[in-house]
Amino acid sequence: MSKVLNIGIVGCGAIGTSLAKIIMKEFSGQARLAALYDLDAVKAQKLSLAVSGSKKIAVGNLDALITRSGLVIESASSLCAWEIAKKVSCRSRDIMIMSTGGITGHLKELSALAKLKKSRVYIPSGAIAGIDALKAAKMGRIIKVTLITRKNPASFSGVKAIEEKRINLKTIRKDTVIFSGSAEQAVRSFPQNINVAAVLSLAGIGAKKTAVKIIASPSVKRNIHEIEVISEAGTIFTRTENIPHPDNRKTSFLAVLSAAAVLKQILAPVRIGT
Ligand SMILES: NC(=O)c1ccc[n+]([C@@H]2O[C@H](COP(=O)([O-])OP(=O)(O)OC[C@H]3O[C@@H](n4cnc5c(N)ncnc54)[C@H](O)[C@@H]3O)[C@@H](O)[C@H]2O)c1
Repeated sequence: MSKVLNIGIVGCGAIGTSLAKIIMKEFSGQARLAALYDLDAVKAQKLSLAVSGSKKIAVGNLDALITRSGLVIESASSLCAWEIAKKVSCRSRDIMIMSTGGITGHLKELSALAKLKKSRVYIPSGAIAGIDALKAAKMGRIIKVTLITRKNPASFSGVKAIEEKRINLKTIRKDTVIFSGSAEQAVRSFPQNINVAAVLSLAGIGAKKTAVKIIASPSVKRNIHEIEVISEAGTIFTRTENIPHPDNRKTSFLAVLSAAAVLKQILAPVRIGT
């Protein structure tokens, strides 16, 4: 009989909660939800109760979670993702990182640590399509990678860069480019886009070379991400129209499913796609 994978989830918000439920429903027999941790202890306890009928899966700190887990899923925050990844990898456990923006500057270090400690690092595609073909194209030569994000102007309310540029979101009546620059600059100015720009940069040609355009579009209700890759293998174009997660409108539901798909791949004997 094959071994059951013990999974710990750090961050019991929208993504963590959905993944906990998926693990219990879809992967029982292959994987077990072994530990849940959140800075807000009540959240972890409530989730434990909801998925297992007791509070026993909830733990009080990250170390306790790592002890119980073979695979740790980070779904907490980009502010702590790197620290969590380091701790998990140091203890030779595998890690899946959702707050991709938190590790963009640390990929080399994380790769070296994972190699030394025989741990694996998984970074799901998240809320975008095309990472499979981008990875394949990277085996040859890539000329250009561009991300165009379209969101309703209301989605940008409270964004510091918008306030600094004195853009009045309420007066936008047609598609308006509110940012054009590198992914490196975009993640600084528009932290909401951090994970999409980060995974694209990591899989492709890096944050300095990846071009990003952000458009405030009054006619759209979903978050739309278009990716264009120009490579010696040809041109790749993808468009994702994302439905927000019901518990956190800033998070696309596809990101949850992307993590579940990576988990399925980890547990399956056959891998499909790059
Ligand atoms: N990869 C992607 O495509 C993608 C898409 C959407 C969101 N995300 C990222 O995934 C993460 C989770 O998203 P979400 O929608 O579930 O957010 P959320 O706000 O609903 O939940 C985050 C949870 O993490 C907890 N938390 C924060 N810091 C913590 C820490 N240091 N230790 C333990 N718990 C901590 C919070 O208390 C909260 O319960 C965010 O960083 C978000 O940016 C990634």
